[in-house]
Amino acid sequence: MQRTVDGILDRYGNDEAELLAVLMDIQAEFNYLPRPALERVSERMGVSRSRINYMATFFSAFSLKERGKHICTVCMGTACHVRGAPMLVDEFERILDVKAGETTEDKQFTVETVNCVGACALGPLVIVDGEYYGNQKSAQIERLIKKVRKADAKEGAA
Ligand code: FES
Repeated sequence: MQRTVDGILDRYGNDEAELLAVLMDIQAEFNYLPRPALERVSERMGVSRSRINYMATFFSAFSLKERGKHICTVCMGTACHVRGAPMLVDEFERILDVKAGETTEDKQFTVETVNCVGACALGPLVIVDGEYYGNQKSAQIERLIKKVRKADAKEGAA
């Protein structure tokens, strides 16, 4: 982990003005902000942990809680909710054996909910690793998860 964080810090030259960009890159790399990574940022940039923590908690895009390699987000805004989003959450929870907000034991998947991402016409909407899947039905969730696992297996075999 330290090597990855050092690589990110090297890109920004330990410039304190780039703290937000550094945190964004760390979040993109690990899907959350690991504590050792923040300690390294503090040490190398000479920024206090309280300042880093303030930024990490101020922006909702950041997570201090460990998340999986793949983020499955179900929109629970009104338009998606009335079109069956709760059933999609149930399906993710059933297949992955986690509750919304949790990460699978193998750290592969995190299931999250969000309130309206402004694509209501596509509802109910599922976002997997940033890719939007509109008009989803419960029966499609298993296929989505299989697709992600298959891509991982391909990546691992390459
Ligand atoms: S309610 Fe789901 S995108 Fe708006």
